[in-house]
Amino acid sequence: MKINIFSIFPSIFELFLETGIVGRAKEKEIIFFKLIDIRDFASDAYGKVDDYPYGGGPGMVMMVKPIVKAMESVEDKGTTYLLSPRGKNFNQEMAKDLSKEKTLSLVCGRYKGVDERVREFVDGEISIGDYILSGGEVAAMVIVEALTRLLPGAVGDVNSVNTDSFEKGLLDAPLYTRPRVFREKEVPEVLLSGNHAEIENWREEEAVKLTRKYRKDIMKN
Ligand SMILES: C[S@@+](CC[C@H](N)C(=O)[O-])C[C@H]1O[C@@H](n2cnc3c(N)ncnc32)[C@H](O)[C@@H]1O
Repeated sequence: MKINIFSIFPSIFELFLETGIVGRAKEKEIIFFKLIDIRDFASDAYGKVDDYPYGGGPGMVMMVKPIVKAMESVEDKGTTYLLSPRGKNFNQEMAKDLSKEKTLSLVCGRYKGVDERVREFVDGEISIGDYILSGGEVAAMVIVEALTRLLPGAVGDVNSVNTDSFEKGLLDAPLYTRPRVFREKEVPEVLLSGNHAEIENWREEEAVKLTRKYRKDIMKN
């Protein structure tokens, strides 16, 4: 998979794209990234990408021209999305759908937002939740990280992904590791039994209990 990221702060992504599962997937050439600095497409020598809003009001607006020119500089754009509070809410289902794409482009806004006309040059808009970030970069990272773990070969043990929360309309089961006892709090006996069928049953039951308690809304029949 290939992901193009358009931003005025591409350096934010550098460490992120080298780290953990994303970094390894990149190394294994399961995923490719292209960072495009929107400022490189500014019309003046100062790299100006924002201007005052028509009609007045607070904040600066990201100009349409540098964004569109930046996008036009990339031949293989695939499906293009603007990160935006107005967009469709990102969730695991959307992550799964997007992970099937060959190429994706993510456009990060900043300031008070982007010139409305940018929306005519993208295929869709994605929001990562009902709150306001200062820019689309962190939202793009959320999407990149969620998608990467779904790509075949990115996570060592595919069963780890299959049993994650939201995969089967359930939260993940509780997890324990050493020590067996910590300040009198013990690991459930069944996990020490070596009986895989019993352990599986216990995990499924616990996942159902947790989902009922915390996220009834995601439960499937
Ligand atoms: C300060 S925000 C602009 C918010 C805009 N004035 C509004 O109220 O809808 C600047 C940029 O951050 C990004 N952003 C902010 N919140 C976001 C969210 N929940 N999901 C995705 N992107 C977001 C968008 O790219 C946006 O253009």
